[in-house]
Amino acid sequence: EHQTNWDGQRLVKYDGIWLLELLFRPILSAQKYFKAKDTDVILSTMPKSGTTWLKALTFSIANRSVFPIDRSPLLTSNPHKVVPALEFNLYWGKGEENPDPESFPEPRILSTHIPFEILPDSIRESDCRIIYISRNPLDVFISQRQFLLENKIAKDAVPLELDEAFDMFCRGITSYGPFWEHMLGYWNAHLKNPERVLFLKYEDLKGDILSNVKKIAEFMGFPFSAEEEKQGVVEQISRLCSFENLKNLEVNKSGNVLGLMKNSSFFRKGEVGDWVNYLSPEMAERVKNIMESKFQGSGLTFNI
Ligand code: A3P
Repeated sequence: EHQTNWDGQRLVKYDGIWLLELLFRPILSAQKYFKAKDTDVILSTMPKSGTTWLKALTFSIANRSVFPIDRSPLLTSNPHKVVPALEFNLYWGKGEENPDPESFPEPRILSTHIPFEILPDSIRESDCRIIYISRNPLDVFISQRQFLLENKIAKDAVPLELDEAFDMFCRGITSYGPFWEHMLGYWNAHLKNPERVLFLKYEDLKGDILSNVKKIAEFMGFPFSAEEEKQGVVEQISRLCSFENLKNLEVNKSGNVLGLMKNSSFFRKGEVGDWVNYLSPEMAERVKNIMESKFQGSGLTFNI
């Protein structure tokens, strides 16, 4: 089944999930060839939920003894170059054009937007860790829309007006959608196995970054020592990875990822609740109702 997404890109339906046609082959290759290791850390997100932030944080946490903060690769490379994505970087090319993930140093930190149900089997079957970051879907929708309008990935396509685009999003037709299935898939995986799947919320990180950095470090198996805490390492990592710091780095003001997405477009506003500037209370109500019915009994909640 095919469909045109609200930004004009082509979608295909696979196992009940809408995938960008552009990513279909890389996703199938990832499923077929990716061999997870027990030491891997997989960052999973719905696009625009905080992937860039999570990449910067997890990389800094895992590599803090290799790269001191003032020599962090994040100062000279966009986080998406530092932490590769399965479907964008590892399996984007055809066969031999792809990098060999076997050669990456451990622990390998890799990201993906692939829903839990269709992750490569080896990720679900190994003892690797998965960190999911979720975000209020209204902010996700606005962030995605602004990102896609800015990057015009579908060159000749005409994006739909806001109302129509929102309607499609709510009907589940969006890249990697429906969004509620994406969240529920990882939420249920977290409930089943909290040692293997950490479930974070963008809003919680905005509210209290320090305790979340500690929580992420513990989950990854790299807890901060009392000595490090005393030296302020948690604060230093949080500051390095903050929106203001990353946005203002020279490297993130120009250049692009894969020739498709401007580095700068990954740093827009970085706020909670920006949707109020675009969406009506009725639109918010619609999403609230969807979430209430879909998340009923699951224990997953969002404050809108
Ligand atoms: P906005 O468009 O609402 O500003 P992703 O990284 O998954 O592509 O998500 C991008 C969203 O996260 C954008 O949201 C972006 O501004 C925000 N973001 C990027 N880096 C961030 C950081 N270090 N801290 C907080 N938010 C960040």
